[in-house]
Amino acid sequence: MSNVKSNGGRGEQLLAWIDERFPLSKMIKEHATEYYASKNFNFWYVFGVLAMVVLIIQLITGIFLTMNYKPSADDAFASVEYIMRDVQWGWLIRYMHSTGASAFFIVIYLHMFRAMLYGSYKKPRELLWLIGMVIYVALMAEGFLGYLLPWGQMSYWGAQVIISLFGAIPYVGDPLVEWIRGDFFISDITLNRFFALHVIAVPLALCMLVIMHILALHETGSNNPDGIEIKNNKGPDGIPVDGVAFHPYLTAKDLVAINIFLIAFCSVVFFAPEMGGYFLEHANFEPANSLKTPEHIAPVWYFTPFYAILRAVPDKLGGVVLMGGAIVVLFFLPWLDRCEVKSIRYRGWTYKFALACFAVSFLALGWLGLLPAEGVYTLLARIFTIIYFGFFLLMPFYTAREKTKPVPDRVVYHK
Ligand code: HEM
Repeated sequence: MSNVKSNGGRGEQLLAWIDERFPLSKMIKEHATEYYASKNFNFWYVFGVLAMVVLIIQLITGIFLTMNYKPSADDAFASVEYIMRDVQWGWLIRYMHSTGASAFFIVIYLHMFRAMLYGSYKKPRELLWLIGMVIYVALMAEGFLGYLLPWGQMSYWGAQVIISLFGAIPYVGDPLVEWIRGDFFISDITLNRFFALHVIAVPLALCMLVIMHILALHETGSNNPDGIEIKNNKGPDGIPVDGVAFHPYLTAKDLVAINIFLIAFCSVVFFAPEMGGYFLEHANFEPANSLKTPEHIAPVWYFTPFYAILRAVPDKLGGVVLMGGAIVVLFFLPWLDRCEVKSIRYRGWTYKFALACFAVSFLALGWLGLLPAEGVYTLLARIFTIIYFGFFLLMPFYTAREKTKPVPDRVVYHK
């Protein structure tokens, strides 16, 4: 007993020693034990933490992959095969990393959709949303850069298609394409710079952005499924009456979600790492060959909604502009939505209907992007592209006249 006490005492002394030199306790209080978030968080609120879990998985497995990967056109493909066959546990590390890439986008798409359900991008969280959008673009860049590294057929030809899109830009297009590749074609030089960007530049930016994202979140406080600002209703102790401390109450909830996520993640890693060609495309099991174009060039599933928009437009420049526009328009969401009410629970039927149309169009475009751009598929891609943009561009009009329901003063807790 006395031992435990003296250890605790020493622990406290150590903490006091640290606190005099670094604000450790202060940070833990501010961001965990005294960060109050709404008590009615639901399923949709676990994806931020899951995104962090996946980020950590990607960083750790990435470091171990880099130990055996060779970023050269002659060796890259063989080094990945070596990792899969000869490096101890190499197959596990690689499958965790490739599955992690898809898991990242699943989690992020759900995380973003939650913000659209509960109006989390609205005042005062506009900057939080904008930082999130920069993270999303960085994540897409990271996925694209990483995909060239195994130097398979799809790596090569996918990069070829995407980089050549920049060629559609008037005047600067061709020199820009050359500048990105660092060569007159996709070569060893391109692979080297993609490697540098994929393993250090973008992950570093991502980590810093995630820190900014959390700081911005903790400045405004989290939103909740009712879209009520819990900070506006504090008890005599100064604590929001509808709030609970993030730690231990919400960390306990998050741990359950992390466990369920890891079960699903491991099931894919161990039993279906290729996921029928969606997570690891079949054509990428063949080494890159600049003389042989694959029959269908399709990006990995998380890019296909934008790829479908690109191909829906007959003109190359028009396609590039619309594809870029489909991402850029998301940045403006906080200002396009004119409705005062945040949560879908109290919004009118127009927004509910519009959001449902948007979700369907995004999924449909994702599916169409995997199929060849011909006949009825092109027609469907055009229809869904119009719906996708209609959701955003008509938003100032249909949200301004929305018939909303009264928002309660306190959060509603559904048991
Ligand atoms: C590496 C990627 C990301 C990480 C690690 C991350 C992390 C988090 C975490 C931990 C939270 C608080 C818990 C939660 O609400 O789920 C959060 C909230 C939020 N995130 Fe992210 N996030 C990421 C990407 C994004 C992206 C791409 C967007 C949107 C473009 C976004 C928008 C938001 C918004 C609006 C909130 C506040 C939600 C609310 O309070 O209702 N995040 N994020």
